[in-house]
Amino acid sequence: MKIDSSQLIELAQKFGTPLYVYNGDMIEKRYNDLLNHITWPKLKILYAMKANYNPSVLKLIHQLGGSLDTVSPAEIILGKKAGFTSGNILYTANNMTDSEVNDVHASGVLLNIGSLSRLEKYGKRFPGSKVCLRFNPDVVAGAHKKIQTGGKLTKFGILLEDVGVVKKISETYDLKIVGLHEHTGSGIDDTNAVYKSIHNLLSIAGHRNFPNLEFIDFGGGFQVPFEPDEERIDYPKLGGEIGRIFKDYCVEYGKDLEMYFEPGKFIVAESGYMLVTVNTLKDNRGRLIAGTDSGFPQLIRPMFYDAYHHIVNLSNVNGNERNYDVCGNICETGDRFAEQRPISEIREGDILSIENAGAYCYAMGGVYNLRAMPAEVFIYKDDIKLARKRLTNEELVKNIIGECE
Ligand SMILES: Cc1ncc(COP(=O)(O)O)c(C=O)c1O
Repeated sequence: MKIDSSQLIELAQKFGTPLYVYNGDMIEKRYNDLLNHITWPKLKILYAMKANYNPSVLKLIHQLGGSLDTVSPAEIILGKKAGFTSGNILYTANNMTDSEVNDVHASGVLLNIGSLSRLEKYGKRFPGSKVCLRFNPDVVAGAHKKIQTGGKLTKFGILLEDVGVVKKISETYDLKIVGLHEHTGSGIDDTNAVYKSIHNLLSIAGHRNFPNLEFIDFGGGFQVPFEPDEERIDYPKLGGEIGRIFKDYCVEYGKDLEMYFEPGKFIVAESGYMLVTVNTLKDNRGRLIAGTDSGFPQLIRPMFYDAYHHIVNLSNVNGNERNYDVCGNICETGDRFAEQRPISEIREGDILSIENAGAYCYAMGGVYNLRAMPAEVFIYKDDIKLARKRLTNEELVKNIIGECE
């Protein structure tokens, strides 16, 4: 299912570096894996499009039958252009403005509200509406503290103990709470944390509190192995257990509800590669530094939260390993994709593949130092297409001047 080194080199030669490459077949596999592992017939997968909003990725997920988790009005617009309809989009922005709430409500997309004050404002403005509520599961988990969204230190969701206040507000404004939601964090490798969050949300989700429920949404956060020796969670076991817990809950609730998940990373991370060319080698008194033609604005995860991305020297896969700092071309010392990483010997001109670059890589990108984002190539069932082009320097500058007018 991986794209082999020689094909990646060909793509780098054809489209130039830096270059993102996505494997649509891998996206399809991961989407179907999740559907097969979680044993609940009324399961809906809302792809968290913040992870990778390339239109080719969105269209594939729509074709596979997926729905969308969105976090901004522009995401809704783009999602609809890719084929999704209001009925299969959920809106889970945080710290929403009045005007965006009005726009999203008017578009027919269901809002997922995560604060008491917004719920009150929403009720006043749109009494009698349907709404989903985001609760804070009170579980702290995730691959890095910057991507842990549960617990009292984060801005996300309504505290579980405020369920009584929620009831009062919804009764006052006749709001119909059709969904409950929690998202614990990203890259959760502890299945007990997953069960605990589900348990905590379900503990307040009884018929007495919420008689109009149609679905429960347990967010995203499924772990993906990034390091070569990192183990993958036993997903069939996890999915089976989640199905059992939910069945018991639904029996008690008195109705088979829909179960939603909102994976981002799980669906797209492993599909992606960022290809870069090494143009400068330094030996700083024994410390080897490989300078490349990309930088942290084009893939920020290592600098942002110390994320590991495996790096392969495509041009010398069987060379002797040496330790390298793999750096970018940006004027910041922290502009590194890897530090002291064993990689097969690098020569100037070699092409490196930065792996698992399908989620939160291009999507978090920017043009700091005024270097255009890389092009993106999408491969699906042997069809290779340029899914977004790289702006020329002239186009980049033209956009900037346009933004100032
Ligand atoms: C509300 C919500 N749902 C889903 C996700 C997707 O998380 P992941 O990509 O780890 O699956 C996120 C990630 O930030 C999120 O904030």
